[in-house]
Amino acid sequence: MEYLVVPLHRHPKYLRSSCDLINTEWKRSDTARLRSLEASSDELPTSLILLKENLLLGYLKLSPIPSIPGGCFVESVVIDKKERGKGYGRILMLEAEEYCRLNLKHLNVIYLSTKGQEGFYRKLGYTECTPISIYGSCGANTLKTHFTSAGRSESNINSGLTVPAPPPMPVINLDSGTVSKTYMRKVI
Ligand code: ACO
Repeated sequence: MEYLVVPLHRHPKYLRSSCDLINTEWKRSDTARLRSLEASSDELPTSLILLKENLLLGYLKLSPIPSIPGGCFVESVVIDKKERGKGYGRILMLEAEEYCRLNLKHLNVIYLSTKGQEGFYRKLGYTECTPISIYGSCGANTLKTHFTSAGRSESNINSGLTVPAPPPMPVINLDSGTVSKTYMRKVI
């Protein structure tokens, strides 16, 4: 078999190399990173790794979205720098979708946010959507509209009004005024 996409918690010998791979892209303390990786389980959050001939080539994490039970959030998608542009990112994402279909049957939508890799995800069928919160509350630096599901804002839900869904919008950092992330989704 040329490659394998498997849950990290079933192959814990790749914990260290996963930590190193993610930290080459997003630096964080090894202790915090390893603790987060060790949280992987058959229930979300689940870390998936891409192996080729027992070498770690890629990593991603599937996290729960408390306000959207049928959705999960894919994050920390990373392919080893030397192996980029060879189709492995596509393989990892498509295998992650298949993993959700087979093992997390309550899921029907995958969400993500990205700053700069929109083209990659568009090629895989992801489309832009309204921002979602995976924490259940809005961060201090983001626009004060809390979208809990694609198309309905918190205030609309609380008032019981049926209001048309707003168009996709970027999250704006109120300190810098810069557009920070694009939210995308794909029905699986
Ligand atoms: N913009 C447009 N198209 C792209 C981009 C991009 N930034 N990156 C890849 N593509 C295209 C490729 O050209 C290819 O197209 P083709 O099928 O027509 O030939 C297709 O997408 C698949 O590309 P892969 O070779 O599979 O991509 P790769 O293995 O390089 O992985 C990844 C892409 C994961 C984004 C990699 O570049 C990486 O690790 N980047 C650094 C970390 C990062 O930014 N991760 C994403 C964070 S966002 C998140 O985690 C949700």
